[in-house]
Amino acid sequence: MVFKVKENITWVGKADWEVRKFHGEEFSTHHGSTYNAYLVQAEKTVLIDSVWRPFAKEFVANLAKVVDLRKIDYIVANHAEPDHSGALPELLQHIPDTPVYCTANGVKSLKGHYHADWNFQVVKTGDKLSLGSKELVFVEAPMLHWPDSMFCYLTGDNILFSNDAFGQHYASELMFNDLVDQAELYEEATQYYANILTPFSKLVDKKIKEVLALNLPVDMICPSHGVIWRQDPAQIIRRYLEWANDYKENQITIIYDSMWNGTRRMAEGIAEGIRQADKDVAVKLFNSARSDQTITITEVFKSKGILVGCPTINRGILTSVAGILNEIKGLSFKGKKAAAFGAYGWSGESVKVIQDKLAEAGFEIVNDGLKELWNPNEQAWENCVAFGRRFGETVK
Ligand code: FEO
Repeated sequence: MVFKVKENITWVGKADWEVRKFHGEEFSTHHGSTYNAYLVQAEKTVLIDSVWRPFAKEFVANLAKVVDLRKIDYIVANHAEPDHSGALPELLQHIPDTPVYCTANGVKSLKGHYHADWNFQVVKTGDKLSLGSKELVFVEAPMLHWPDSMFCYLTGDNILFSNDAFGQHYASELMFNDLVDQAELYEEATQYYANILTPFSKLVDKKIKEVLALNLPVDMICPSHGVIWRQDPAQIIRRYLEWANDYKENQITIIYDSMWNGTRRMAEGIAEGIRQADKDVAVKLFNSARSDQTITITEVFKSKGILVGCPTINRGILTSVAGILNEIKGLSFKGKKAAAFGAYGWSGESVKVIQDKLAEAGFEIVNDGLKELWNPNEQAWENCVAFGRRFGETVK
């Protein structure tokens, strides 16, 4: 498919309905994704970004139906990650001398991926590329989310091409924010922010404020994944400012794994206690071995506090809990409280192991945790409820 974003701008990307994992196995793309590329036709013609390599031939063939490839004056590579640059080697075989505009880090990344010496044109924030009556203005956005990332803004049409920022892994035939299911759209936009951009929240806040200070009119935001924000595009900017500032809802998430259901029963007792402390708080439980990591991480992002539970095995913790704690650490969540719990049979190190990992991940550990011997009996259940109640009161 191709479609008109505006009379002079054509979406020439690829909707990938099948992709279910992204960044290796890290990110679940429940609604597929799109790799958005845009062809801007003014007095000069410019292609902004491309698509992932498996779709390179299809991309070039579709593009050639929209424009004579030799009429493409410039290529802009806002970001070198292969989901956006993957078709450049194929395209540049057809038009090898076409200038490729990117940041200095973009040159390093593109050369690193493709080992080709294209006609690179390095740009910095504030540099402009004239398309005749309109121009593209470049804004570097380092670490949003790679060192090479940048945005560009098209004057006259007032469009921000934001690359990964404001994107969603969300395949749709509709492709505009006002046409799609709003719950799905925000579910995907939130998962995308929580799992990809959280570690860079300080930079997100700073970059948005820097761009807003330019007072540029923004009629549309065209990201490199998912739908285009054309109806009230500022709505996603407002959401990003909220998400970038230690975001939390009235929610507590309990993550656990269990061998013989002892730690699972503890999790349920703790949830009961939290609800006794605050009937309005949302309490969500996830077995880390059976739950989708992308969703679990998004629930941590929304939480004001988390509890992590695991039985002791070989003086340590189960692989699924270690895995999710590793992911949580990498995302550098801020301003959240936490505690640990777990069942044990003889040595009982798991609670301390979890506590240490949560502290290392930047969580405020609010108590010494809770251990219960063997399968929780009635007294142990009451201990869990009381523990949950105290945690609920602490984070209220
Ligand atoms: Fe969608 Fe960072 O690539």
